[in-house]
Amino acid sequence: MRVLSNEKNALNIYSLTFESTSELLESLPGQFVNINVRGEDSPFFRRPFSIASATDDCIEIIFEVVGAGTWQLSTLHVGDSVDVIGPLGLGYDLDFTESKSLLIGGGVGLPPLMFLYYKMKNKGIEPQFLAGFKSVSYNFMPRNITNVHFSSDDGSLGSKGYVTDLLIETLFHEKVDHIYACGPEPMLSKVIEIAEENEIRCSVSIEKVFGCGTGICFGCIIENSLKRLTETGRKYSLACVEGTVFDAGDINL
Ligand SMILES: Cc1cc2nc3c(=O)[nH]c(=O)nc-3n(C[C@H](O)[C@H](O)[C@H](O)COP(=O)(O)OP(=O)(O)OC[C@H]3O[C@@H](n4cnc5c(N)ncnc54)[C@H](O)[C@@H]3O)c2cc1C
Ligand code: FES
Repeated sequence: MRVLSNEKNALNIYSLTFESTSELLESLPGQFVNINVRGEDSPFFRRPFSIASATDDCIEIIFEVVGAGTWQLSTLHVGDSVDVIGPLGLGYDLDFTESKSLLIGGGVGLPPLMFLYYKMKNKGIEPQFLAGFKSVSYNFMPRNITNVHFSSDDGSLGSKGYVTDLLIETLFHEKVDHIYACGPEPMLSKVIEIAEENEIRCSVSIEKVFGCGTGICFGCIIENSLKRLTETGRKYSLACVEGTVFDAGDINL
């Protein structure tokens, strides 16, 4: 696919858009693309990235440079071609039945929630958004996303502390029916715990380290809850093909 833009929009964070295919235009929030990163010292495995937005003619991913693969992606120029497989995985259920939704994410766990936000807005739903960053320098939240409350580790953006502290505070004065979450596993575990305590439905998108991304290598297994074990007879699920989105009650993090 042809690169349409590749812009740095925060510290070590890039927004990469490329020409879409008809399959990718049908992508759901929570689905991902697997990119073959070519070049010197390029990694053997494809690298997975959540789809951050899909418009009529382009697909966007937002990534942080953390190693060789993402560094290679950051050097792509307009007109370069990228080898992309997708959309992969299962996304969030877009049959929104609850009246009050809350999206919560940390760092580069936010892109699939941004895509979910756009889908909700298209259906006339205005979700509450809680976004956590290490500091203001990492903030890549686009301006067209409103109703966002921020937290940062050092207090340079929004309230100081974890985004899960912000969630606890929010639930003191707001009624929420469904929480949608994506971010590092410790954050997701805490979100699930808070959702259970408050008896709120919760859907999480898992971004473990993936190998193949297509159900072959078993590198992304996730333990099923007793409920899902009883239903399926299986102790584990594959996050890449049965997720990335799971109902919080179906897995043990
Ligand atoms: C379904 C899915 C969606 C993702 N979406 C995004 C996204 O939208 N934006 C984004 O920036 N990143 C996303 N990631 C993570 C991204 O795939 C990795 O950061 C990337 O593969 C790292 O490649 P690299 O070659 O640059 O780094 P590597 O050299 O492979 O790794 C550098 C460091 O990052 C760690 N790392 C690698 N992958 C992950 C991971 N999945 N989770 C936590 N740590 C990891 C490694 O352990 C190592 O410490 C997603 C991952 C998955 C599984
Ligand atoms: S990443 Fe290979 S099976 Fe899921």
